[in-house]
Amino acid sequence: MSALLEVRGLKVRYGQITALSEVGLDVGEDEIVAIIGPNGAGKTSFLSAIAGVVPVTSGTITFRGDDILSLPMEEAVRKGIALVPEGRHVLPGLTVLENLKLGATIRNDAAGIRNDLERFLDAFPILHERRDEPAGRLSGGEQQMLVIARALMSRPTLLMLDEPSLGLAPRIVEQVYDMIKATRESGVTVLVVEQNARRALAVADRTHVLNSGVIRLSGTAETLSNDPDFEVAYFGLRTVRNE
Ligand SMILES: Nc1ncnc2c1ncn2[C@@H]1O[C@H](COP(=O)(O)OP(=O)(O)OP(=O)(O)O)[C@@H](O)[C@H]1O
Ligand SMILES: [Mg+2]
Repeated sequence: MSALLEVRGLKVRYGQITALSEVGLDVGEDEIVAIIGPNGAGKTSFLSAIAGVVPVTSGTITFRGDDILSLPMEEAVRKGIALVPEGRHVLPGLTVLENLKLGATIRNDAAGIRNDLERFLDAFPILHERRDEPAGRLSGGEQQMLVIARALMSRPTLLMLDEPSLGLAPRIVEQVYDMIKATRESGVTVLVVEQNARRALAVADRTHVLNSGVIRLSGTAETLSNDPDFEVAYFGLRTVRNE
């Protein structure tokens, strides 16, 4: 049985810069898989390659057994892959409801779309309360929840999230992660990238540590937090301890 998403030998280059070299991993159905790594590790490049947003230099990507390597982004969305990019890109002048509807533009099942809108507004009272307000007036955490819900409106099989906790207060990060857990419980597989290693480890079934375009270490939260090589893998430097 193949995994939902299989990535092998993935290489992404921007001119002379190698963002990813030979990255391989699997994401199984109904899992939460995390990729953690510092600034510039290649996290965004990895998600962008899967979503068809950046060209891949070499390697293979299969989704439900199909080669999706050269699919443009819209086709990837049609196949069930949704990406929530870094930076909470709501359309600030449109209302919360209008932003949510935009997530469903690839669908033509009007009744299903109405149902999903009801379901998300029910599930996320913050969005319900502010459904008719311009999205630009929401707080950072509310905007993050809105962009996740908007991505879910495309009815993805795989939801990919780029640093959903970035710049949010710890309490708000918890709310966003509660939403991520609820998403998995509703049967959507999740691939999340984070610099917030602690938060990602706490939620993921399996985590990969990416640094300088290479996966340095992989495992469960328990194995990674007890691994003496964890810090070296994450920070790329051997830390000096005063004993
Ligand atoms: N469009 C681009 N053109 C040239 N170099 C790029 C481009 N995008 C990313 N890079 C470089 O590729 C490497 C990986 O970047 P990437 O954005 O994938 O990392 P990241 O882990 O998402 O980092 P961050 O934590 O800053 O979001 C970095 O060296 C970055 O400078
Ligand atoms: Mg990034």
